[in-house]
Amino acid sequence: MPVDTFSLAGKSAIITGSGRENGIGAAIARTLARNGASVVINYVSDSTRPRAEATAQSIRDEFGVKVALIQADISTPEGAQGLVSETLEKLGVDHIDILVNNAGGGPVQSIRDTSLETLQKEFATNVFGTVFMTQAVVELGKMPRGGRIINIGSIAPKMNPPLLAVYAATKGAQNSLTVTWAAELGRGHGITVNTIAPGPVTTDINKDCPEVMIPMAEQQRGDSRFGVPQDIADAVLLIVSEKSHWITAQVIHVDSGVVVGG
Ligand SMILES: NC(=O)c1ccc[n+]([C@@H]2O[C@H](COP(=O)([O-])OP(=O)(O)OC[C@H]3O[C@@H](n4cnc5c(N)ncnc54)[C@H](OP(=O)(O)O)[C@@H]3O)[C@@H](O)[C@H]2O)c1
Repeated sequence: MPVDTFSLAGKSAIITGSGRENGIGAAIARTLARNGASVVINYVSDSTRPRAEATAQSIRDEFGVKVALIQADISTPEGAQGLVSETLEKLGVDHIDILVNNAGGGPVQSIRDTSLETLQKEFATNVFGTVFMTQAVVELGKMPRGGRIINIGSIAPKMNPPLLAVYAATKGAQNSLTVTWAAELGRGHGITVNTIAPGPVTTDINKDCPEVMIPMAEQQRGDSRFGVPQDIADAVLLIVSEKSHWITAQVIHVDSGVVVGG
């Protein structure tokens, strides 16, 4: 038997919402690229473009793999399909092996202040986007046996923190998709589907809300520091590995022990 390896040589991966250099998506893209995968850096906001260009270039320079930079809004079917078509063209591949549904977020706010627009945007990105990207990658992207779909969830559906009701609901919906798709895309198709659910990690989306971050971090069992994007990227690497072929339909909390198993 050959020596075990995490090599992703020859694999192609889309990581949505990966343009910001200090975000979880960029850390995942760097980690998959470091292990040999060709990767897509995706962003949606014009304001993120310079950061996304720098992220893509630094990965190319450091790891020498193919990196495609693609602006696309994953919250619409057209945006998701466009992202997948452009990936096939720019990476010069005929299929996509790994999809990380990372794009997401939502405001910290009372239910009293939640508008229809906020609700629609949050569900559109966190839930609809996950659906549209998965459809596009499985159909257009011809994800093969051994394919990996990772949804980036949250510990919010387990913790139900104040001021994150809608966010927690979207991530709970995403968890349900993970479990159902694991059967639909698993049996007969050979694709695994899992959620990696981070605890508090300092990034752009939550750096201004210590009132949410600190109480959750205080419940960590393994360490007292906040999580960093690399903590989450390392867990994604484990799950996209061939060695994780028997792990599917799971919501894996990567949070230094806030949410406990058993
Ligand atoms: N940080 C945490 O503590 C934490 C904890 C649990 C879960 N998470 C989850 O981890 C994921 C990454 O978050 P992060 O903390 O790394 O924040 P982040 O750096 O701000 O990343 C969020 C990214 O989502 C992208 N995005 C939003 N809507 C999009 C759309 N319609 N199409 C394409 N991309 C879109 C944004 O792209 P632009 O830059 O182009 O706007 C942004 O880069 C999210 O799903 C979040 O819910 C984070």
